[in-house]
Amino acid sequence: MTKIAIVYFSATGHTQQVAEAVAEGAKSVAGTEVKLLRILGEDIHEGRWKNDSIIAALNEADAIVFGTPTYMGGYAAQFKNFIDGCGGIWYQQGWKNKIGAGFTHSQGLSGDKLNTLAGLMINGMQHGMIWVGTGITPQGATPDKINRLSSYSGAMAQSNIDQPNIGPGDRETAVLLGQRVAETAVRWNK
Ligand SMILES: Cc1cc2nc3c(=O)[nH]c(=O)nc-3n(C[C@H](O)[C@H](O)[C@H](O)COP(=O)(O)O)c2cc1C
Repeated sequence: MTKIAIVYFSATGHTQQVAEAVAEGAKSVAGTEVKLLRILGEDIHEGRWKNDSIIAALNEADAIVFGTPTYMGGYAAQFKNFIDGCGGIWYQQGWKNKIGAGFTHSQGLSGDKLNTLAGLMINGMQHGMIWVGTGITPQGATPDKINRLSSYSGAMAQSNIDQPNIGPGDRETAVLLGQRVAETAVRWNK
């Protein structure tokens, strides 16, 4: 079995919907086992995130997909706490040669989401991971279109404050990213 872990933070549920769509895409690939792992603020004590069962699941994964809302043009603080909490793994290069990918959700059409994805990608590079982008040519810019926000380094999703669910185009973009990550991980494992 090729193990895909999706680790994410979500305060009000939109990023969770993106994570679930990534999981759906990853599960559609034969031979995969997919885990959704949610970062919670309650696991942060004195400024440091710690959750041994999440770390164990990430350590045994073949691919890790990272997801966070964009806050103030970058990671949500809760997610940054998790990222920094994995510094010891970086020191041992414990995630070297795992497949990596990322996604973010924000309220603004831009909202500086690219900066968040760049942060996720740099974190993956520091860990020695092999980064997988969307690989999707945008199909248009309306909410029903795949990769309507024209993002290549990871999946972007955007919802207005009064919109409870992410749009169909962003959802499908996330499904396709999950599928691509899983296909890459399965090939890499051969
Ligand atoms: C502290 C804070 C900062 C935010 N900064 C941004 C921002 O820089 N750009 C943007 O488009 N949206 C911004 N937002 C909106 C969030 O991106 C949006 O609430 C989030 O993606 C919702 O995801 P969730 O439902 O998974 O929590 C911000 C929200 C908060 C609470």
